[in-house]
Amino acid sequence: MHALSTQAAPASICLRDYRAPAWRVDTVELDFDLGIDASEVLARLHLRRDPAQDAPLRLDGENLQLLSIALDGTPLPATAYRYDGNALEVDGARDGSVLETRVRLRPAANTALEGLYLSGPRETGFLLTQCEAEGFRHITFFPDRPDVLSRYTVTLRADRTRFPVLLAGGNPDGAGALDGGRHWARFVDPHPKPSYLFAVVAGHLQVMERDYVTADDHAVQLKIWAEADAIDRCHYAMAALERAMRWDEQAYGRNYDLDVFHVVATHDFNMGAMENKGLNIFNAKCLLAAPDSTTDEEYRHVEAVVAHEYFHNWSGNRVTCRDWFQLSLKEGLTVFREQSFSADMNSAPLKRIEDVALLRRAQFPEDAGPLAHPVRPAQYSEINNFYTATVYEKGAELVRMLAGALGRDGFRRGMDRYFERNDGRAATLEDFLAALGGANGTDLTPYLAWYAQAGTPRLKAHGHYDAVRHTYTLTLAQYTPGGHGAEPRVPLPIPVKLALFTPQGDMLPLHLDGQTAKPDTERVVVLERAEQSFVFADVTTAPVPSLLRGFSAPVILECDYTPGELALLLAHDVDGFNRWEAGQQLAARAYEDLRDDTAGAALHAWCDALARLFDAAAIDDALLADLLTPPGEVELAERESAIDPQRIHHLRQALQQRLAARLGAAALRQRYAALAAHTTIELDAASQAQRRLKRRVLELLALLDRAGSGELATAQYREAPGMTDRLAALSVLVRSDAPQAAAALRDYRERHAGNALALDKWFAVQAQLPGERALDRVRRLERDAAFTLKNPNRVQSLLGAFVRNNPSGFHRVDGAGYRLLAERLVALDALNPQVAARLATAFNGWQRLEPLRREAAHAAIVELAGHHGLSRNLAEIIGSVLN
Ligand code: PHE
Ligand code: ZN
Repeated sequence: MHALSTQAAPASICLRDYRAPAWRVDTVELDFDLGIDASEVLARLHLRRDPAQDAPLRLDGENLQLLSIALDGTPLPATAYRYDGNALEVDGARDGSVLETRVRLRPAANTALEGLYLSGPRETGFLLTQCEAEGFRHITFFPDRPDVLSRYTVTLRADRTRFPVLLAGGNPDGAGALDGGRHWARFVDPHPKPSYLFAVVAGHLQVMERDYVTADDHAVQLKIWAEADAIDRCHYAMAALERAMRWDEQAYGRNYDLDVFHVVATHDFNMGAMENKGLNIFNAKCLLAAPDSTTDEEYRHVEAVVAHEYFHNWSGNRVTCRDWFQLSLKEGLTVFREQSFSADMNSAPLKRIEDVALLRRAQFPEDAGPLAHPVRPAQYSEINNFYTATVYEKGAELVRMLAGALGRDGFRRGMDRYFERNDGRAATLEDFLAALGGANGTDLTPYLAWYAQAGTPRLKAHGHYDAVRHTYTLTLAQYTPGGHGAEPRVPLPIPVKLALFTPQGDMLPLHLDGQTAKPDTERVVVLERAEQSFVFADVTTAPVPSLLRGFSAPVILECDYTPGELALLLAHDVDGFNRWEAGQQLAARAYEDLRDDTAGAALHAWCDALARLFDAAAIDDALLADLLTPPGEVELAERESAIDPQRIHHLRQALQQRLAARLGAAALRQRYAALAAHTTIELDAASQAQRRLKRRVLELLALLDRAGSGELATAQYREAPGMTDRLAALSVLVRSDAPQAAAALRDYRERHAGNALALDKWFAVQAQLPGERALDRVRRLERDAAFTLKNPNRVQSLLGAFVRNNPSGFHRVDGAGYRLLAERLVALDALNPQVAARLATAFNGWQRLEPLRREAAHAAIVELAGHHGLSRNLAEIIGSVLN
């Protein structure tokens, strides 16, 4: 088959074609008869017909083995229904009819991990479901769309020895024994929900329990379930869950609404976690945590994901989405809520830096190439391909702008109204903006343009100081390049938070033209047109503007700062984020100095400023570690054309080496020793910060003194009290090609042989070996007994880390990296299309590579596209990437 015919195959679903469902389901009773190889599902649907529509009853259902079907108690003859493998059409249904179907499923054969599947070995593993977005149709016949809300009663029956634990969402409603060593359990969910929030779990699981009383006095049992060897690693998640529940009560007035809240950990999961009503299911890597196997970063991630899924109980479950185009309504909002929670629990500026760094690394490249799509896409072929950084991370930035525009109290007022007006409904982004605006007497509809338009807007800023009139005129202009989508380009409202600094590093009071209120030193101006000027009065000296403070809008700022001005902000800005940002801009300019072999003013300014901060005692260790880190290779590549990732890697190394040399080996060694003297495994902010800086110092030292740093890293590896220090040391040894690396890797492999999550990191560290050697290492690791394409985490840790986090290894000039990825995608696609499609996005951006690599990548992608029988998931990504 030719490539183009494969790409043309997937049909598009369009936002503008939305129609309300012709048939709804008021209540549904599901009876599961569970077995590993075969399970049977009996479904009783109480149907409601829209009197305004006369469409026949059509239910989704994919690859189900239909065993029996009856309408209103009467078995249907074969002439009364049609099933084509995708949809079931039934004749004779009326408003109030009850449809009963019985189907057989094959959980153990389900490698796509969508619908009902087996986690772990067939003898000991457990059964679970994953339904978002369209997995419920793999379980039973149903109108599988989020705007059909139903009340669920679920009964599970199974062998008691093989499946001692039986769980479903909702409140428990009885359990008991059955003949033949079997047992049953029933759950009733009083809250109507869409089918994507349905879940069941059955098997051998241990539980950790806690009693919780909500702010509105409801007693709730919190139960975290995991396999026997993992239950000890659930303490941290339990505490995080309690913090998240309290926080949502205080910050948003939201209480939990069932008698029990289940959380389950699995090692076999396509995503991070899933907010099923009353029964959240987590990828083990987002739930389990213990000092000997979990890094600080991972601890923060566990806390964030636990909170994220919990927060969905309101932003997603009580108020759900009308259709999948509104996905960001729940995801962008919930990411924003999670970010605010994490900022409150940890350091707010560090959290902001981390989030913006992620946005730039993951979302900006997506938005700059052929996979670009608006936060609310206009069409899709496979919805699973739209769980993207744009929908999640950019979506969260849009909520942040709205929250900023309304202020703290106004946003809370708006959110109260949003939850109140839309409780129990499937809502749209328009409903969201109407509630936020309505509660505050403002019109937020201009922000809808942000949801409709792909691409990262550029914000051009130019300042002019009038020394005679003492005015400072700031001219802002916006444009959005590209245009991969056909959507019109209209000016977006861009809130710019700013301050003006004197050359001494003090903030000036801001008198914005004609305004008399007591002046602040920081304020927000909103650019609403293509170009606008803002005039500040009584400015006594030519100022240095600090723009877009806290990253007040997801744009790329273009402002012609001098290196000296950036150095001033790096030294003095009190906005932690902008201080870091000034350092990043200066580092990028320093990088260009090296690349273009030019005078080097930025390079000197950057090194000098950091050397001063390095010696100053006043700065937080974690912020200092971040300041000492230049933008990553992916981010640097974004600023170039004819990209050569290996050259970028070498230049960035050289840049860091210059910094290390400026700081000096002696000072680095001394700082390292001081930090290492206080090694702990505590998780408080200061201890985490100290470990972060220690790692950075060791990395910089490795660029100057390989032998010396090799010894320090070896000692750190051996004596590390926790995973953060151990993994940092291992990574330094591996990346700097230290002679001790091999022994450390062997030790790690043995030490953590029984711990899948720890082993993942062993694969990932090696997959990120820089340069040409990485490919052979990846090939060798693929032959490791612990490697398998069947486990998404393992695939991520080896292939994902290689193609996504190792540009200089993946982008070999001979194209071998591209061919390896293409070959693995074919094998992976046959097992798990969702994971294959996500991995394939690593091809994004090939058009901007230098000609040799571009040709090689193109050839590999074209060959892949021509492959027979690719899934719709992978075909859509490959088709888009080629465009
Ligand atoms: N809705 C999940 C979340 O919290 C993500 C997810 C999507 C999980 C699809 C599984 C499948 O973000
Ligand atoms: Zn989510």
